[in-house]
Amino acid sequence: MTQGNLYAPYLMRVDEVVEETVDTRTLKLSFKDPEVAAKFDFKAGQFGEYSVFGAGECTFCIASAPTRKGYIECSFKKVGRVTAAMRELNVGDTMGFRGPYGNSFPLDKMAGKSLVFIAGGIGLAPVRCVIQNALDLRDKFKDITIIYGARSVGDLVYKRELDEWAKRPDVKLWQTVDPGGETKEWKGQIGFVPNVVEKAHPMALNAFAVVCGPPIMIKFTLPVLAKLGFKDDAIYTTLENRMKCGIGKCGRCNIGPVYVCKDGPVFNAAEIKKLPPEF
Ligand SMILES: Cc1cc2nc3c(=O)[nH]c(=O)nc-3n(C[C@H](O)[C@H](O)[C@H](O)COP(=O)(O)OP(=O)(O)OC[C@H]3O[C@@H](n4cnc5c(N)ncnc54)[C@H](O)[C@@H]3O)c2cc1C
Ligand code: FES
Repeated sequence: MTQGNLYAPYLMRVDEVVEETVDTRTLKLSFKDPEVAAKFDFKAGQFGEYSVFGAGECTFCIASAPTRKGYIECSFKKVGRVTAAMRELNVGDTMGFRGPYGNSFPLDKMAGKSLVFIAGGIGLAPVRCVIQNALDLRDKFKDITIIYGARSVGDLVYKRELDEWAKRPDVKLWQTVDPGGETKEWKGQIGFVPNVVEKAHPMALNAFAVVCGPPIMIKFTLPVLAKLGFKDDAIYTTLENRMKCGIGKCGRCNIGPVYVCKDGPVFNAAEIKKLPPEF
């Protein structure tokens, strides 16, 4: 979708605020201009620049699915100036959004295959977009396995949705918390995500994996997937290099010749291995 001024944001209304954890919240946003709302479209994995007037812009994935029309959602942790300002927003407030930007997860290529989603912490935000998209088109995919971990029970995001996924007979959900992060009531796994992936033992045949989370989780999950038989071109992730313009103009996000904002943010493990060593 293009606009006259590339940097002019769409005006968005905050429709709903969900406090996911003590420091993470989800905003549901709708376009104030009904014409823009009707035309807006995006693909799973794309991102945008979200702005609070007077505070600035920051980059988040679109955490809701393109199959769910009329709104977008973002989930974020308060880490700095803009996210602090976004924490102060209430239902009915106005903020800005420009996008969608970047490439997307290849759902067409994934059709007819099994999907394994592996996420840690707030890394579930970009993965949730693909999960929702795949569940809305459930007949197009074979087995769907979701493995999600957080440091503690209190750090799990999208709890309402995790409960919904747990109840679905057509989804295998594995939830885990780090040792010591469990409560007395916790019925999920206790252990780090890579160990739970090994235990879940998803089949690699005719399957794609989508992995997002802290770099340390990704680092130890990739060898487990390799051991299970997943080839590098069947493992996708999304990079979160610091960005400014989001549209390939400022040179802030590049890794050698690769612009994460335009060539990514979605890459498979084979593509990531080809990136210059500075990455
Ligand atoms: C494509 C993409 C998708 C993203 N999706 C999400 C999302 O869905 N939810 C979410 O919470 N965050 C996401 N991020 C990270 C998010 O953009 C930053 O955390 C945010 O811009 C911080 O804004 P701020 O003004 O509050 O913090 P700032 O004041 O700009 O920074 C606060 C601190 O965070 C560090 N920081 C800022 N940006 C990054 C970054 N990209 N990587 C590592 N450290 C950073 C700064 O160095 C500083 O230490 C995404 C980033 C990218 C590039
Ligand atoms: S963020 Fe400006 S070039 Fe990528």
